[in-house]
Amino acid sequence: MSRSIKKAVFPVAGLGSRFLPATKAQPKEMLPIVDKPLIQYAVEEAVEAGITEMIFITGRNKRAIEDHFDKAYELEAELASAGKQQLLEMVRSVIPKNVNCMYIRQPMALGLGHAVLCAKPIVGDDAFAVLLADDFMQGERDGPGVMAQMTATFAREQSSLLGVQDVPRAHTKQYGIVSTDPFGERLEKVGAIVEKPAPELAPSTLAVVGRYVLTPRIFSCLEKIGKGAGGEIQLTDGIEALMQYETVLAYRYKGRRFDCGSKLGYLQASVEIGLQHAETGAAFADWLGQRG
Ligand code: G1P
Repeated sequence: MSRSIKKAVFPVAGLGSRFLPATKAQPKEMLPIVDKPLIQYAVEEAVEAGITEMIFITGRNKRAIEDHFDKAYELEAELASAGKQQLLEMVRSVIPKNVNCMYIRQPMALGLGHAVLCAKPIVGDDAFAVLLADDFMQGERDGPGVMAQMTATFAREQSSLLGVQDVPRAHTKQYGIVSTDPFGERLEKVGAIVEKPAPELAPSTLAVVGRYVLTPRIFSCLEKIGKGAGGEIQLTDGIEALMQYETVLAYRYKGRRFDCGSKLGYLQASVEIGLQHAETGAAFADWLGQRG
């Protein structure tokens, strides 16, 4: 097993029902934060971490994602003939030249664990990353992104890693929750993991966010487990099975997360990125200030 992570899995087959009707005919991962779709931010985070093989687990209604990372002949020709060089460069640089995109269709939405298992034929015997695009992550200012922090940690520790953060106890029902023992700087050894426990049953308030680095043994674990919470094949249950064979570490990432699977988180991310944006930042800050 190589120490460096070159492959990332993006499960994008979900229905996006929390954003209907916006997601009736387009994937939730294509919702923009200012001017870039959520999935592009996640891919950029993976590219920054040195990942070159992007594996999308798609479903019906997800063609826009494939088109987004493909060459756009007509658009490029139009922009070129109109002399719109800057826009042309922007469209062409959505994905760096050394990065490959691959698509696997998940025929039915059977859960996150099932989606990850669909990547087995491409991932093979390598450790790999998983990024859930609706968890929009920002590293600290001038610091590495969250996946870059995790791949660097993996190179050192060679153990599966779960990105984690503390959440209010009332919110445990939205996350995989871990109980842990001390291990190292920003690292804890996972002792137990449970999917979406009620607040009174949660073993802690340390929640798994949508960033994982997993060893390939996760696949045989996912093959063995049955349906879990919500009648779905849960990645959380696969990780619990993996812990019988290997150490799994929780990594307290440096940075911020916006839950763009929820309307509130999506709006917060839009405001934050709008304020940071080179084109809109100053004017948007003025406008927000005037509103009081
Ligand atoms: C999934 C996982 C959950 C994890 C969460 C992070 O849940 O099943 O364990 O904590 O992502 O965002 P979902 O948000 O897809 O319901």
